[in-house]
Amino acid sequence: MCGIVGIVGRSDVAPQIVDALKRLEYRGYDSAGVATISGGRLARRRAEGKLGNLERKLAEEPLPGRIGIGHTRWATHGVPNETNAHPHFSGEVAVVHNGIIENFAELRAELAAEGQEFESQTDTEIVAHLVSRGMRQGLGPVEAAHEALKRLRGAFALAIIFAGDDDLLVGARSGPPLAVGYGEGEMYLGSDAIALSPFTSNITYLEDGDWTVVRRSGATFHNAEGHEVSRKRTRSSAVSFFVDKGNHRHFMEKEIWEQPDVVSHTLSHYLDFAEGKVRNVRTPFDFASLDRLTISACGTAYLAGLVGKYWFERLAKLPVDIDVASEFRYREAPLSKNGAAIFISQSGETADTLASLRYCRAAGSPIGAIVNVGDSTIAREADMVFPTLAGPEIGVASTKAFTCQLAVMASLALMAARARGTVDTEAEREFVRQLAETPRLMSEALKLEGPIEKLSHRLSKYRHVLYLGRDTSFPLALEGALKLKEISYIHAEGYASGELKHGPIALIDETMPVIVIAPHDRIFEKSVSNMQEVAARGGKIVLITDRKGAEAATVETMDTLVMPDAGDLVAPIIYAVPVQLLAYHTAVFMGTDVDQPRNLAKSVTVE
Ligand code: AGP
Repeated sequence: MCGIVGIVGRSDVAPQIVDALKRLEYRGYDSAGVATISGGRLARRRAEGKLGNLERKLAEEPLPGRIGIGHTRWATHGVPNETNAHPHFSGEVAVVHNGIIENFAELRAELAAEGQEFESQTDTEIVAHLVSRGMRQGLGPVEAAHEALKRLRGAFALAIIFAGDDDLLVGARSGPPLAVGYGEGEMYLGSDAIALSPFTSNITYLEDGDWTVVRRSGATFHNAEGHEVSRKRTRSSAVSFFVDKGNHRHFMEKEIWEQPDVVSHTLSHYLDFAEGKVRNVRTPFDFASLDRLTISACGTAYLAGLVGKYWFERLAKLPVDIDVASEFRYREAPLSKNGAAIFISQSGETADTLASLRYCRAAGSPIGAIVNVGDSTIAREADMVFPTLAGPEIGVASTKAFTCQLAVMASLALMAARARGTVDTEAEREFVRQLAETPRLMSEALKLEGPIEKLSHRLSKYRHVLYLGRDTSFPLALEGALKLKEISYIHAEGYASGELKHGPIALIDETMPVIVIAPHDRIFEKSVSNMQEVAARGGKIVLITDRKGAEAATVETMDTLVMPDAGDLVAPIIYAVPVQLLAYHTAVFMGTDVDQPRNLAKSVTVE
């Protein structure tokens, strides 16, 4: 997934484009580039690596021009180098692209057969050649662009400019989002409202299949057939300030430490702490009449849903079918007529999650979305948004969004339990009390940072780590493994503790630390047995537990982290903190790029 920007401006646009790209770097940062038109000619600067490399190049060789396009890349086709960096040129045409042209090989072969040569390995370059070919065949720029769009299959958001016209910017959307922004005598195109937030909050989102013709005087919108259509203007809620790290070394560190506040803020949206009740938040379905709830998401968001499954089934006796969205979207799952679906996504733009939402929409299910970006595509396509009030999450590794997703899931499960009569007023009050304690307990957990940092230096010497957990600690084991591997690049796996003896125990020896997440709950003894099985085979154990658990664990450990006592319901939210801190400090000690780990991006808008 990449970020694209286009500006038809009143003065030189390159600095504005770079400013917008900074807000899109979370979408990918393998390379970046800007192209403008000046004196009737196209010119561009491109650079491999982070956006700062492009900024330095532009400082040395400024790019004049009152119209331009820009791009920050997450490589899909072609290695991340300058040649494959966007914008891509062909004749008078320059293109930037977010997505994947799935029939690019066929189109490339067609163009090659006509003698077209290629500069890059990218699918995007094909688009520039198709448009340029149309113009050589006598079509005007807009018509040539429209004809080229008809040839493309796959997911794409495009911005195109033409050397002969410095007042023409064409945009198109098929899948990944694209927004038009309205300025004073200038117009904008961007992957999302955050990118355009420095210039305007006056936004129109293209609908799937739309393309748009943008000039300084305004924009027209057209559907796939080319008919002009009207699209509504909205006022974006995207942040207009650029989030900074404060006095933290990394966004991830800042976001870990923000959790008590943002979880508290999120919980207060759903719970009346004073009354000890769950608020009557509007839902697009009646929990009392549901016979099944489908949950789907990706990555960490999926793991939040996995915890939610335990809560919905245990508290509300509501059966939950949960799957990773990349599987769910093709699984052809039969959906109940009395069912509903909830999709979880920090960015609200994850392609697989959006596709799964559309599958359920097509089947007529009422749709809820737990999202952190209020005007994202998933938010717009759901019947009801259940917001996580985490604020902008910049670190690629999701932390505060995850615990806020858990806070929302716990609140919705409680809401469902009340609606279904499976929890009485007294029990509701107790659960709300536990949840109200969460921010304080997370702050307590953060005080373990010193011992965790020491432990991380020892952990960084290993190449493989196993995380174990039972019940709602099992998704936490998966999340701890995901956090560690995605930012420290150490291989890590999460397993249900009870599964250890069914295979993974063959891995156990002194070279593979085992991190056991086990608050002292009703099945704690089972976790003790698992730890004994590990110890008997020379395995090194790190136990994350509470005071009672530390006292009851009759096994020698490499380290034991003693967490504050927490109710069963909220334990997963609290225990997220040590696994996040462990991954963070291991990555810092290993010197990886914590906020922008290699090969990753914050929002995966391609499948
Ligand atoms: C989280 O640490 C990961 N970076 C990733 O798994 C992420 O959770 C996943 O891509 C889903 O993103 P979303 O919440 O924006 O849909």
